[in-house]
Amino acid sequence: MSDQPSHDDLWTDAARAIDWFTPYSSILDDSRQPLYRWFPDATCNTSYNCLDRHVANGRGEQTAIIYDSPVTDTVQHISYRELLDRVSRMAGALDKLGISKGDRVVIYMPMVPEAAVAMQACARLGAVHSVVFGGFAANELASRIDDCAPKLIVSASCGIEPSGLVPYKPLLDQALELSQHKPKHTIILQRQQLTAELLPGRDLDWTEMETFAEPVNATAVASTDPLYIIYTSGTTGQPKGVVRDNGGHLVALNWSMGNIYDINPGDVFWAASDIGWVVGHSYIVYGPLIRGATAVMFEGKPVGTPDAATYWRLIERHKVKAMFTAPTAIRAIKREDPDGKLLKDYDLTSLETLFLAGERADPDTIQWAENHLQRPIIDHWWQTELGWPAVANCAGTGLFTVKYGSSGKAVRGFQIEVLDESGQPLPRDTLGALALKLPLPPGTLPTLWNNDEGFVEKYLTEFPEYYSTGDAGFIDGEDYVHIMSRTDDVINVAGHRLSTGQMEEVITDHPDVAECAVFGINDELKGQVPLALLILNQGTAKKATQIESEVIASVREVIGPVAALKRVYTVNRLPKTRSGKILRATLQKIANGEPYKTPATIDDPVILDEIQSEIEVRG
Ligand code: COA
Ligand code: AMP
Repeated sequence: MSDQPSHDDLWTDAARAIDWFTPYSSILDDSRQPLYRWFPDATCNTSYNCLDRHVANGRGEQTAIIYDSPVTDTVQHISYRELLDRVSRMAGALDKLGISKGDRVVIYMPMVPEAAVAMQACARLGAVHSVVFGGFAANELASRIDDCAPKLIVSASCGIEPSGLVPYKPLLDQALELSQHKPKHTIILQRQQLTAELLPGRDLDWTEMETFAEPVNATAVASTDPLYIIYTSGTTGQPKGVVRDNGGHLVALNWSMGNIYDINPGDVFWAASDIGWVVGHSYIVYGPLIRGATAVMFEGKPVGTPDAATYWRLIERHKVKAMFTAPTAIRAIKREDPDGKLLKDYDLTSLETLFLAGERADPDTIQWAENHLQRPIIDHWWQTELGWPAVANCAGTGLFTVKYGSSGKAVRGFQIEVLDESGQPLPRDTLGALALKLPLPPGTLPTLWNNDEGFVEKYLTEFPEYYSTGDAGFIDGEDYVHIMSRTDDVINVAGHRLSTGQMEEVITDHPDVAECAVFGINDELKGQVPLALLILNQGTAKKATQIESEVIASVREVIGPVAALKRVYTVNRLPKTRSGKILRATLQKIANGEPYKTPATIDDPVILDEIQSEIEVRG
């Protein structure tokens, strides 16, 4: 740890900003290395820190959440007092159903305030929520239900996408047919746009539950108890259940709101993400409320709901001080309004900074936003596992320089290094694997759900004493970190993290497919999109184009529309090394029209020319 300050120096002050029920006597428990626990003997409650203490301190009438939903033409302001009341009553309803500390609750909901109420209600009881993104299919929901075995599922009758209504309840019913684990109850929020049929005895109506419930107080939980599980994509089809604790998470998020985003009590912060992603957890539902700020919850898209001025309209309407979105959203706006004409109709004086994350921010996108907004556009880097930014320009410190192509410098508490394959640190400006020295700071994942061993194997074994990020990059001579690519099978589609390995598993289940390779290719709007190359079984009766369409449909059916697999091409052979490994990196370069070197280990170099012409023909 050489020149790093001690954990006490780093976190003592930050921890004072949190209301603990039982104070901690030590900051870090490192007795089970490489597993670490923050504020090990303290007790607290996350919902109490988000709500009760602000109401007690005079913020009751301040808006906690602004729900702005252009798809339903609704704007709703929910004060801290109202939110506390709704959350306490919903927690009472869950309590009546027998949900208590440590029980799991799956939440499968669109971007409505009730989703935040459900999450906070779980936190209030010490129950562990696991939110599943609405763009995932029933099968994905089922695998999460089986992994975390919830006592209850909270859902809604429908979501609203620009393409139309998405009925959630049939997906939930299908997931419950597929899953081994069957929770006793579901609670369904009926939305007027499309109501769902409830199964008597099993499905309960949200409004009735909330209306007739008695409010309950916040339960004391150990700082180290899990607050939530969030599943994220890895190399295989089995998603990883990232665990978040209570105490470390409270301390880290509060610190990050002030120091990274420069958001203080009373300020308005808008993370244009979804509660199904970590950004929605950290910076819609928890971070702003822990801080006593106001969070915007947006049910819409950057374009098409109704137009490419939606972001600017909301910033003006709600006097947003800092905003967070994915670069793909800015690219979508830029595509529809390249000269930024729409933006000129709005008063954006409240906006001080725009933060970007979730995928590489290309300099073109940053410069477009900079030119039109005339504000710092801050790229920053983190992952579901980390829970808050590890590399950033910290706006709260006031001292930062935006460097195109870099996500900033390591944030306090994160020690990032570039390692070679044997785990040795590489010199400056040299590309290698990005790794974080252990222990990771508070708020990061302490483990995977029910799987300490898997956590150690997947993240802490490749480089002893480090956490492997799965990203490659370099650090320049001025300590700026440049994130370049993933080192595994994960791709990033419109800021959504997806596993190509998982898509391959689904595709090879097709009876006519002998083999396949899926990899990410560049896309002007979404950053990356998946492309699949198929080899068909000999003598199959169906036409290749029919099989390709079936493959597209089955990925959508099994993983969900969010997978966005639209390009599937049949080829005669796939390039492999002599030991049989498909050369995906070379295929990716070919498909992107980038120069590539024919690998020395390839079994037959002619295949590369065949694939290149096939991709050129198909476009
Ligand atoms: N529930 C149900 N379906 C959903 C969904 C949800 N919550 N979210 C997305 N989908 C569906 C979409 O309807 C779409 O289905 P389709 O193939 O039938 O059209 C599919 O999943 C892909 O959606 P999306 O990735 O949103 O692509 P898009 O082409 O509809 O929109 C953008 C493109 C760039 C506008 C959109 O991706 C976007 O707003 N990106 C911002 C990214 C972001 O906020 N990331 C969070 C990390 S910070
Ligand atoms: P997720 O867990 O969905 O947040 O995805 C995390 C992954 O997205 C990281 O490991 C990176 O590969 C990528 N990512 C996130 N932020 C950035 C960024 N600012 N620049 C480049 N890649 C990013």
